Amino acid sequence: MTRIAVVPGSFDPVTLGHLDVIARAANVFEEVHVVVVHNPGKQALLPISRRVELIEQAISEAHIRGSIRVASWSMGLLVDYCTDVGAGVIVKGIRSQSDVNYETPMAIVNRDLSRIETVFMLPNPQHAHVSSSLVRQVAALGGDVSPYVPPVVHEYLQGDQDTRIEAAGIQ
Ligand code: PNS
Repeated sequence: MTRIAVVPGSFDPVTLGHLDVIARAANVFEEVHVVVVHNPGKQALLPISRRVELIEQAISEAHIRGSIRVASWSMGLLVDYCTDVGAGVIVKGIRSQSDVNYETPMAIVNRDLSRIETVFMLPNPQHAHVSSSLVRQVAALGGDVSPYVPPVVHEYLQGDQDTRIEAAGIQ
């Protein structure tokens, strides 16, 4: 039986939907590693170290209980991180059928590579429409993202004009 789970993602930035899944995972597993991974298929906004800090602060701010460690991984396969820390399960949040379609191949490849199982968790439906990419776009164009992100992320995005301009793709 595995006691350690990994919740991986780009978290660019962490949203309330992500936090909901992290809290649910922490309720089920003895130890949870939230792992920020660079996704080469996505244009990154925040540096990985900033994403890690924001997740740590958001977890603390939300008083999420459990043994939770926030880390980043850039050394190769996610399953190698899992093996290194003794994690037997990857946890992913599923908001919609398109998430199932996106996550299923990764889950099967990860299992083929390492026998590590992926568990899909359903966040609160109130977060079903929230994604980091939408948050980046709304924030970049000056919209209010406070309903979608933890307060610490809202403050960060509000205060960082350079990040907003970069996110908008404005030269
Ligand atoms: O939040 P995202 O961008 O959907 O997260 C995807 C992520 C980063 C978890 C995924 O791309 C990943 O696991 N990357 C690590 C590289 C890897 O192990 N790839 C092979 C299995 S899919």
